[in-house]
Amino acid sequence: MKCNQKHKFMQISLIVFIVSLFACGARAEDTNEEETVIEDFFICRTCGNDVSVANLAFDKYSPFALSATNHTFTDTRSVLVQEVENPLGIRFHIFLVKQASCIKIQPWTHKSTWFPGYAWKVCVCPKCHTLLGWMFEPVESATAEQHFPTHAGFYALIFQNIITEGYVNSLLMKEKVLRDN
Ligand SMILES: *[C@@H]1O[C@H](CO)[C@@H](O)[C@H](O)[C@H]1NC(C)=O
Ligand SMILES: [Zn+2]
Repeated sequence: MKCNQKHKFMQISLIVFIVSLFACGARAEDTNEEETVIEDFFICRTCGNDVSVANLAFDKYSPFALSATNHTFTDTRSVLVQEVENPLGIRFHIFLVKQASCIKIQPWTHKSTWFPGYAWKVCVCPKCHTLLGWMFEPVESATAEQHFPTHAGFYALIFQNIITEGYVNSLLMKEKVLRDN
């Protein structure tokens, strides 16, 4: 009889063990999914082409920034938007991403950089050829053969020329709500 009870206890603890295994497995799966979820798409305001994703945004201060503000692109992501000025006196609001889609374009420029130690070239939309921003690459690796930034480089996108898909969808939703009422 004692033996029976012990057996029952072991059965229960085995079930608890198995359930906890599954619970852990499920949790691990959830975190994996969270890592691959695309928060939002950055798209070309002119033509709607995909430029980058919100997950790839990161902050790096330019010592030449005239001003800087945190802009909330999505519920979860706030991005540093800096105002910079080119040698012609034209001002741009820029934010940074690790990767973006631009056409292949000629050599890197070393002078008048907003990020010391980095050479730059323009980033032009592959579809409509609008200026989307600039590519930056450490001076040492900014060679003629290196068409795009390496993992050590980055992209600065022009805030006014980019729109998020979430924002576009929210406009469409609003329009639909207005129509329905
Ligand atoms: C932006 O937000 C970060 C993190 O909350 C903060 O450290 C930084 O000072 C903010 N920058 C500006 C310009 O508000
Ligand atoms: Zn475009």
